[in-house]
Amino acid sequence: MIAERMSSESIPASLNSPSKPNARRPIIAIDGPAGAGKSTIARHLASYFGLLNLETGAMYRAFAFKALSASISLEDVPPLLELSAQTTIHLEPTEAGNRVFLDGVDVTGELREPSVTDGASRVSVHPQIRAWMVGLQQELGVAGGVVMEGRDIGTVVFPNADVKIFLDAAPEVRGLRRYDQLGDAAAEVQPEEVVRELRARDERDRNRADSPLKPADDAVLLDSTHLTLDEVVAQAEAIVTEKLGSEILTPTPSK
Ligand code: DC
Repeated sequence: MIAERMSSESIPASLNSPSKPNARRPIIAIDGPAGAGKSTIARHLASYFGLLNLETGAMYRAFAFKALSASISLEDVPPLLELSAQTTIHLEPTEAGNRVFLDGVDVTGELREPSVTDGASRVSVHPQIRAWMVGLQQELGVAGGVVMEGRDIGTVVFPNADVKIFLDAAPEVRGLRRYDQLGDAAAEVQPEEVVRELRARDERDRNRADSPLKPADDAVLLDSTHLTLDEVVAQAEAIVTEKLGSEILTPTPSK
């Protein structure tokens, strides 16, 4: 069970030799429901501040994909645990998002299927599976220099994260943003269906007994319902800069 950081040759130069020798390597936690824009914001912050972005949802997706491929019931914990013991998940952050390697094979292209999206939410309710994932995620982030995105980063994975942002938006807005991102596939579904699926997943993620999706007490809430992407990005940058001040690695101006 290994989830590795990027190999040293692929780590951005700003992390190998920070422009400020004593600059801290912060942990920035971005949590929130599906479709709130976490990945976009996390990617932007990582690139702007010279950090690695790690998408923890991709790890649950990779595991759900493996369980579905092996025809293991996503409700049956003992075989899922057995499967987890034979599973390695490796995230490789890139400018365009994480590439995900499952047992050494790049499965990035498989993880956005609706069955995998739903499956990730279903496997993530099991405490033993969460404990395994949380351990992997803590290993990945413990050295700092990361923007880690998920549902429980600020509450469970890194309760002492330097910055915690809880990104939210009204369900209809999140659903319609998801629908717009579907591109050609949008022809096959109705927007209402996407909103309905997203609400169902929200319901499960918010109401599970173990580590339900909720803001940490000390998270900054950022509601993007009425904001453009540029406005959300600007507010997220301002939150990080205010929290970390001059300790942060030197920002790279937006492209
Ligand atoms: O962020 P995402 O949509 O890729 O996440 C897929 C599912 O994984 C999500 O519905 C719930 C689960 N998840 C979780 O329980 N904890 C995390 N830190 C990240 C994702």
